[in-house]
Amino acid sequence: MKELIVALDFPSPDQAIAMARHLSGQIRWIKIGLELFCQSGPAIVQTMKDLGFNVFLDLKFLDIPNTVRGAVASATRIGADMLTVHIAGGKDMITAAREGIQQKNIGPAPLLIGVTVLTSMNIKDLKGTFPLRNSADVPSIVENMSIRGQKWSLDGVVCSGQEAGMIRRQCPLPFMIVTPGIRMTQIKDDQKRVTTPAQAITSGSNFLVVGRPITMANDPLATAHAYLQALEK
Ligand code: C5P
Repeated sequence: MKELIVALDFPSPDQAIAMARHLSGQIRWIKIGLELFCQSGPAIVQTMKDLGFNVFLDLKFLDIPNTVRGAVASATRIGADMLTVHIAGGKDMITAAREGIQQKNIGPAPLLIGVTVLTSMNIKDLKGTFPLRNSADVPSIVENMSIRGQKWSLDGVVCSGQEAGMIRRQCPLPFMIVTPGIRMTQIKDDQKRVTTPAQAITSGSNFLVVGRPITMANDPLATAHAYLQALEK
């Protein structure tokens, strides 16, 4: 399965809905992140579903198990088709997240996806917080987190395209690999571990997440189409 997810990182629901309407028919998945969700509230999930989209609710939960169980149950109830928790929360938190999903008894369960190391961070950023030695430490942390996350019941992970191949070898399908930090040009914005759509797909990514390169483009529809074509090649 290969899908493009467009991240609707907008400060207002009106802007997000206008972009969603513009892309509808071309794109099947959209991502609602912290900025849009905090401004719009849970109703934005149903609005996007009514427009025909599958919704990736990317709120990256990281808290004590009891709180995450409740948050995941709520995200499931409002209709998320995919949601994120930080693998750094550990086994008990991820087990609780799975229990939160299971509290819903109607309809298909959302995909429970674990965030590894943000694609906006490289070895230099991580060294500021953790005792790491060299750049080979980053893929090895991502790999370790993915293997553990899979054991702890995750349906997949978020990682950069640079680590996707290694993870795919360790975690075969149906384990899902979701990859942001996708760029077809040299403009990286604040992303650091970036790849092209082709690199990510060849390495085994299933979902490519693209935000600003599409939403800030002069012609978002044509740009989305170019990303879709690159993904299908
Ligand atoms: O605009 P851009 O394509 O960089 O957007 C990437 C999207 O993916 C953002 O919404 C960001 O929150 C999300 N994301 C990420 N890195 C992760 C997880 C999610 O960039 N590890």
